[in-house]
Amino acid sequence: MDKAKRKAIIAGNWKMNKTPSEAKALLGEIIPLVADADCEVIACVPYVDLAAAIDATAGTNVKIGAENCHWAESGAFTGEISTGMLKEVGVEYVVLGHSERRQYFGETDETVNKRTKAALAAGLKPIVCVGELLWERECNITEEVIARQIKLDLWDVSKEELKNVVIAYEPVWAIGTGKTATADQAEEVCAFIRAQLAKLYDQDAADAVTIQYGGSMNDQNADELVSKTNVDGGLIGGASLVAEKFAAIVKAASK
Ligand code: PGA
Repeated sequence: MDKAKRKAIIAGNWKMNKTPSEAKALLGEIIPLVADADCEVIACVPYVDLAAAIDATAGTNVKIGAENCHWAESGAFTGEISTGMLKEVGVEYVVLGHSERRQYFGETDETVNKRTKAALAAGLKPIVCVGELLWERECNITEEVIARQIKLDLWDVSKEELKNVVIAYEPVWAIGTGKTATADQAEEVCAFIRAQLAKLYDQDAADAVTIQYGGSMNDQNADELVSKTNVDGGLIGGASLVAEKFAAIVKAASK
């Protein structure tokens, strides 16, 4: 992390876990444990939990995010949720392009880009996820994959809008597998992402972007990961569902 240049952010990605009452209970455990955090703390929760989560975190330092949004303002998109709906309930962040959405729900860089632009236009802060598959890493094309995702996912996003974008580097092979990228591997790709942003925008704009690591990040490895200059926090899946573990990661990023 380089807190002089950018915000450190620890965000929980709850995925398809917790009902509204369970969300309220878990946030009730998390809130006192992270009250003195020196980083931004976010919980990204299922749509139906949003209202309860926003209610439970009112007046605290925990912010609430959604896990996706549609790009259209409204219309015939059964089952989808618009940015305006998220704004009205008080959502601030939204995870976009998560590898599970790319893998299981046909998400492409084109649709990630559409969602990103819609989120920014609505005043939401997108957490845009990028990352290579294991096979792509083995074929030595990690940088090509990441460069392509960054370029396409942020296509037509202005330098001004970039200030509200968070990038999460999540190597797909590390998600939910217990296989964390080493701190050096995370740093290498996060630094590469920043270099790509500098090419697309400029160095100052790139230096100000929070780039998180995600993929089996937990209370045991968080310290080492966030000690790296270009790793500005984490997007946490499994460990974000256990208050003590999540709080320990927040603590690591608060140093
Ligand atoms: P994990 O998930 O921490 O359970 O690996 C991270 C994510 O998918 O955002």
